[in-house]
Amino acid sequence: MANETMLSMIAESEKFAPPASYVRKSYVQSWDEYLTKYRQSVKDPEGFWSDIADELQWQQRKATVVTGKMPDFAFFPGSTINVCENCVDRYANNPATKNKVAIFFDSENGDSKALTYGQLHREVQKFANVLLSLGLQKGDVVSVYMQNLAETYVVLLACLRLGIVYNTVFAGFSPEALRERIISSEAKAVICTNGSYRRGKILRLKETVDAALEGVNSVQHVVVYRRIPDLDTPMTPGRDYDYEELMKSASPVCAPAALDCNDPGLLIFTSGTSGKPKGIVHAGGGFLLGTYAYTKYQLDLGPEDVYWNTADIGWLTSHIFVLVGGLALGVTTILYEGALDFPHQGQLYAIVEKYGVTKLFSAPTAYRMMMKFGEDVAKQYDLSTLQLLASVGEPFNPQAWHWIRRVVGGGTAVINNTWGQTETGGTPLASIPGAVDMKPGSCGVPFFGHQLQVTDLQGNPVPDGTPGYLVIRNVFPSLARDVFGDRQRYLSSYFSQIPGAYFTGDSAVRDEDGHFWVLGRVDDVINVSGHRISTMEMESSLIQHPAVVEAAVVGQPDPIKGAVPIAFVTLDKSYSPSDALAEALREQIVRDIGTFARPDKVYFVEAMPKTRSGKIIRRMLREMIRDGEVRGDTTGLEDNDILEKLMQDLGSPSK
Ligand code: PRX
Repeated sequence: MANETMLSMIAESEKFAPPASYVRKSYVQSWDEYLTKYRQSVKDPEGFWSDIADELQWQQRKATVVTGKMPDFAFFPGSTINVCENCVDRYANNPATKNKVAIFFDSENGDSKALTYGQLHREVQKFANVLLSLGLQKGDVVSVYMQNLAETYVVLLACLRLGIVYNTVFAGFSPEALRERIISSEAKAVICTNGSYRRGKILRLKETVDAALEGVNSVQHVVVYRRIPDLDTPMTPGRDYDYEELMKSASPVCAPAALDCNDPGLLIFTSGTSGKPKGIVHAGGGFLLGTYAYTKYQLDLGPEDVYWNTADIGWLTSHIFVLVGGLALGVTTILYEGALDFPHQGQLYAIVEKYGVTKLFSAPTAYRMMMKFGEDVAKQYDLSTLQLLASVGEPFNPQAWHWIRRVVGGGTAVINNTWGQTETGGTPLASIPGAVDMKPGSCGVPFFGHQLQVTDLQGNPVPDGTPGYLVIRNVFPSLARDVFGDRQRYLSSYFSQIPGAYFTGDSAVRDEDGHFWVLGRVDDVINVSGHRISTMEMESSLIQHPAVVEAAVVGQPDPIKGAVPIAFVTLDKSYSPSDALAEALREQIVRDIGTFARPDKVYFVEAMPKTRSGKIIRRMLREMIRDGEVRGDTTGLEDNDILEKLMQDLGSPSK
């Protein structure tokens, strides 16, 4: 959305108060209460995090709350805490919650099952023993290439129990993308499924793992969960093991390891601007403290809630709000395998109705998809249990916001558009739903203990209503601690742009009520259906093709997906533009990155708009496809005739 449109939307925004029936059950019940607690929390963050820590179970707790400042800091150094113990044992060992359902599993193919906290406890301990029997130890990294399944949670919680650092890789990634992540994280083992159901098809994940592992020596073991029992699955003797076989003989008792609150817990790759994905390292205990607090206050989760977060386990949202944040609050949650609109357009609603979901968390892409399917689909289901609908990952446009609230939320549900990043390990901006009036499109207010500002490049706050850079001034427990194996990249990506602050890479506006509106990224990362894709990574892939001399990729706004990638390429003289070549280039990206990155259009152009120093000016390409012309400053161009030539080329994209 262009900045001007956004600014007028902010100025005209209406406010909606949460209904009294919701407020009564909230942890924070008024704006004044929020403000008092917020001011106190930034004046005394140690006090705030100490109170949060009191709600968790520690193995050993020392007095120190925080040491250091960004980028070198620690929370509760020397104190030991186990994430798995907090998410599972606490509820499994309590007779009142032992038989409570932790996970309802459902699949697009109709399979379903339930796992209580007691059962989860047993399974997790068994798998922890499996990991130990394979010789894996605290600090080792394992890659997890699995879809949303109860077994995936068992695997991840078992890693957290032992301090084995897991790296979940989205099960839609290509062999090349998986290989790159396995190598970059120095993974010693891969845990995968043999296949997954997706839109009526079977994705053969084990074959992808085999292809990814060709020539990779660091991986000694592959554990395969046969999600699809009768699927013919290649197994390499001596390296590959069957999950069920290993579980059969595993003991159901395995003590949680004593882990420093700052020990690495998980690793997740995200797109950076320089092409190569960054392995973001989160501290286990820090992640628990942060996610527990966000989940509690931003979703008001209580013991009676049935809570469904539709995120895929390959995306950090699922770890923040369910695996760690959700289970640490002892909720009943739903894990769903497959497409949300398969086998029919009402599938998501059918699951809400089946379980009586009270709180639904999804992405704007999914909400816009529901809107596209129309009201008639929604009306066929009982959605009256829904009290709160949350969202993260992309701008939640007011039109979709209003539709979702009216049609899915019965006109009364609370909508919480949260803002967060893989790096923040949570959502520093969101509504505190019982206390803050909703403004459609806004990302709400800063979370307790977090100082967010909108600044200029020197780090000076800009006046309310003015766009600037979104920064965070102080440390918080779930802030990423490192980029795996590349401290320098961690420092330069986040702490070198704005003096004394963590730079988010986003631009934003704060309005006069103190609500924040995120405008979008200022770097070269685009967000396609919630997948953060580096345009550089796509360009590097295109350039590998012998026909391509130069490539530029930009995002074009899309009503459903948020953005779609559009590729511009110049060709080697021995090639000429054709639909077949465009398709080959698309396929190249699918192979290197994944289907979700497939360019919507490929334009063959004679030349790119460039600065005098030779940098492609992607902004101009973006303006051309969005507005049909270049509106911004063109003085930096090396060749002034280029724009006209480009407009001619743009008249005819490949199909
Ligand atoms: O640009 C912002 C956008 O998504 C980026 C973070 O992407 P990722 O790391 O994949 O998200 C993980 C979520 C825990 C941000 O830098 N973004 C996220 N939420 C919003 C958003 N943009 C606008 N509105 C949001 N609510």
